[in-house]
Amino acid sequence: MMQTPPAAAAQATRSPREPELRATDALIEVLGLEKTYHAARGPLTLFKNLDLQVDTGEMVAIVGQSGTGKSTLLHILGALDAPSAGTVYCASTNVATLSARQAAAFRNSKIGYVWQFHYLLPEFTAQENVAMPLLARGQTRREALAVAANWLREVGLEDRGDHRPGELSGGEQQRVALARALVNNPRLLLADEPTGDLDETTAGQVFDLIGRLHASHGLTSILVTHNMDLAARCSRVLRLEGGRLTVSATGPKCQPT
Ligand SMILES: Nc1ncnc2c1ncn2[C@@H]1O[C@H](COP(=O)(O)OP(=O)(O)OP(=O)(O)O)[C@@H](O)[C@H]1O
Ligand SMILES: [Mg+2]
Repeated sequence: MMQTPPAAAAQATRSPREPELRATDALIEVLGLEKTYHAARGPLTLFKNLDLQVDTGEMVAIVGQSGTGKSTLLHILGALDAPSAGTVYCASTNVATLSARQAAAFRNSKIGYVWQFHYLLPEFTAQENVAMPLLARGQTRREALAVAANWLREVGLEDRGDHRPGELSGGEQQRVALARALVNNPRLLLADEPTGDLDETTAGQVFDLIGRLHASHGLTSILVTHNMDLAARCSRVLRLEGGRLTVSATGPKCQPT
């Protein structure tokens, strides 16, 4: 007789208020994902029956033409947007089942986000910006600033802590954004064109830094990029095209130069 898998049993007994959990080696496991936007001109289906597995410790690049849904996919993985169908296990939690409040707590504790634009708060210093997620979690200002100072050291900006974002270069702003993304020690780093606004040299340096932090903090990272040279430094390159993810390249784990 077939036994009920533990995940299915857990799901069957789960109260509607509890997030769905399961034990797996994969940090991300997406099954049968569909995303359809209902726009004024009719439905727009970006993907249907999309599967994706990302193992703990992987550094995966997602490439693809503009408008294929890379950002949308990242938002769904990071519990910022809901799928139309399918399951999205991220850090053992089906993020598609989370309430808005649970999703916010999940994002704060499990995920670090970096965007193309840094979104640092202009009126605060670099150190205060990095400390912000800790203050939001209730840490004292003194504790939060001390942790932020350590993170600024990790990203090579220990001497820029009192600069406001407007007093930093583009690469430095992105380093601060990276420190802020990681200050809560997330397991997963999601980065949407993190170097898209930088010149080639600076982009390479920031990408290297991401690779170093990925390795030294045991992160699992997913990076969307249009830069194939940078993508090739990742352990896997996936191409999103026509609603399907295909393996574009595999290589050694990101080796910062
Ligand atoms: N809220 C929305 N409602 C309707 N359509 C949307 C919405 N958000 C995004 N889209 C559409 O979904 C498609 C995919 O958008 P997305 O931002 O995920 O693309 P992308 O692959 O990240 O593109 P780029 O490389 O330019 O950043 C686009 O055609 C976009 O117009
Ligand atoms: Mg995008």
